[in-house]
Amino acid sequence: MCGIVGYIGNENVYDILIKGLHRLEYRGYDSAGVALVAPDGKLSVYKARGKVSNLESFCADKNLDARAGIAHTRWATHGEPSDKNAHPHFSEDGEIAVVHNGTIENYKVLKDALIAQGCKFHSETDTEVLAQLIEYIRVENQCSLLSAVRKALRQVVGAYAIAVVEKNNPDTIIAARQSSPLVIGIGENEMFLASDATPFVEYTKDVVYLKDGEIAVIQRGKPLKVTNLDNVETGVDVTTLQMSISELEKGGYPHFMLKEIFEQPRTLRDCIRGRVSDDGKRININGINDHKDKFLNCKRIVIVACGTSWHAGLLGRYLIQEMCHIPVVVEYASEFRYSYPVLDENDIVIAISQSGETADTLAAIKIAKSMGAFVFGISNVVGSSIPRETYAGCYIHVGPEIGVASTKAFTGQVMVLTLLALGIAQLRGTKSEDEIRALGEEVLRIPSYVEEVLKLDKEIRRLSLIYTYAHNFLYLGRGYSYPVALEGALKLKEISYIHAEGYPAAEMKHGPIALIDQEMPTVIIAPQDHLYEKIVSNVQQVKARGGNILAIVTEGDSVIRNIADHVLEVPVMPECLTPIITSVPLQLLSYYIAVNKGKDVDMPRNLAKSVTVE
Ligand code: M6R
Repeated sequence: MCGIVGYIGNENVYDILIKGLHRLEYRGYDSAGVALVAPDGKLSVYKARGKVSNLESFCADKNLDARAGIAHTRWATHGEPSDKNAHPHFSEDGEIAVVHNGTIENYKVLKDALIAQGCKFHSETDTEVLAQLIEYIRVENQCSLLSAVRKALRQVVGAYAIAVVEKNNPDTIIAARQSSPLVIGIGENEMFLASDATPFVEYTKDVVYLKDGEIAVIQRGKPLKVTNLDNVETGVDVTTLQMSISELEKGGYPHFMLKEIFEQPRTLRDCIRGRVSDDGKRININGINDHKDKFLNCKRIVIVACGTSWHAGLLGRYLIQEMCHIPVVVEYASEFRYSYPVLDENDIVIAISQSGETADTLAAIKIAKSMGAFVFGISNVVGSSIPRETYAGCYIHVGPEIGVASTKAFTGQVMVLTLLALGIAQLRGTKSEDEIRALGEEVLRIPSYVEEVLKLDKEIRRLSLIYTYAHNFLYLGRGYSYPVALEGALKLKEISYIHAEGYPAAEMKHGPIALIDQEMPTVIIAPQDHLYEKIVSNVQQVKARGGNILAIVTEGDSVIRNIADHVLEVPVMPECLTPIITSVPLQLLSYYIAVNKGKDVDMPRNLAKSVTVE
């Protein structure tokens, strides 16, 4: 939530910052701003409400000549989206400017203390408090900016990734992190900082992921220096970025979301590669191999995640319980810490997060570790906080997901959970060699099945026109198709703003059935599985009440075809592998409905891709 970017070097900083902000816009887009430090030491701050393009228009006639600066794109926490609440924030004397991602929990106490000292505030943000505090300390102590930042951060409770510049010093940026991501790029005679590496991937592959409690001094012409809050050098750990610029472009598609939907055959291949032997017989997951005793002896698995990742987690429960016979519970990470959790060393906690930065999921991990559980992460973003905070894990390897609505990350998560379940079953002997081989062979075919399903694109686009103007949708599924129904409903509501409810199909008659009429379409996920006969009854119940039905069925289905208004067919496959296939048509359906309604598919209102606040 919120994206920050900074640059110091010989290029025009404004162009680099604006390009960087566009790349980070998925993190928040209700206002944006830049602070430029010109070679003569002049500090200029420009901000505008709305997307980064508004900031660009605002800056069109400004003097933007500078070689150092910082910038921010905001997702509001303290104070409404407005010009005055946009970052960067100034100190009262205009000497320093700060950008910040995170929340300062004790900002009120600090603000009251500063007001008592005569400080005046111009915004409602917690960030302005930090800017004023740093400057107050610097003036009071007559100390350097670095020293003032360090002293200020010792007083701060909360999460932050910050970058600070000062007037009259075009050669230095101070950056720091605590529980919010910050990565530094080291180029030739230039350095970058950002919430993730996307703003500078075309300039350098040498990156340093700042750790919690570290402060970086980024100085023109000098090596990067990293210290902790006690001013002890902690070392500079340079790693090589595995990301290419083409992954960050739309590649001819009108939206990232559509590109990401169509990338799924490739992303699933990348996710499976090396984890299933060519003959399907062996499942090879390093995170399991390196901790066999944990997976052999655990008594229970607890999955924690939010949003779409939580839906993937629900599928993980079905997969692991069916294949490994280990009890699994799935918790919203945002509720986990308030549910009086009881865990011990016999539990494995699996934390799932595309971004690897979701604050609630990180908080759940901390609790799980403190209670002695073995914590395993499933994440997409290499070097993000969750892989670093967990004892072992698996990347989903689907490449940067930029559309706010998660698509390829969801199928990647489900794929990893499928492989994990197969791997644990192989280790514990809960599936025979033949059963593992049969499923392994089918897993290898999934990318081709997804290719087949994507051929429904034209038909789904046509159907979307019929369904675009509904105000409410019901999504129903049973067994493995129930989490798919939840995910389908979430996809629709987050990008088209149409109300949609996902329900276990059999629960419909305990309430939601009252909603059914000709105005409310029901999307039913009904592949041929062991619950097929039961879901046929549910389809009939909806039809008997005049409901309009769009059903996802298995190729050759004739029963539901005769009842439903529209059907979309997916290939035949083992029941436990259907979710990846049945979720793809639902992604396309919500995409086209949102496009028909003229919505901003990649940046839906009020949302941000990475939710780094509680
Ligand atoms: O990065 P995470 O997977 O932890 O994010 C969790 C949710 O915020 C995320 O899945 C959200 O629900 C998406 N917008 C869904 O499309």
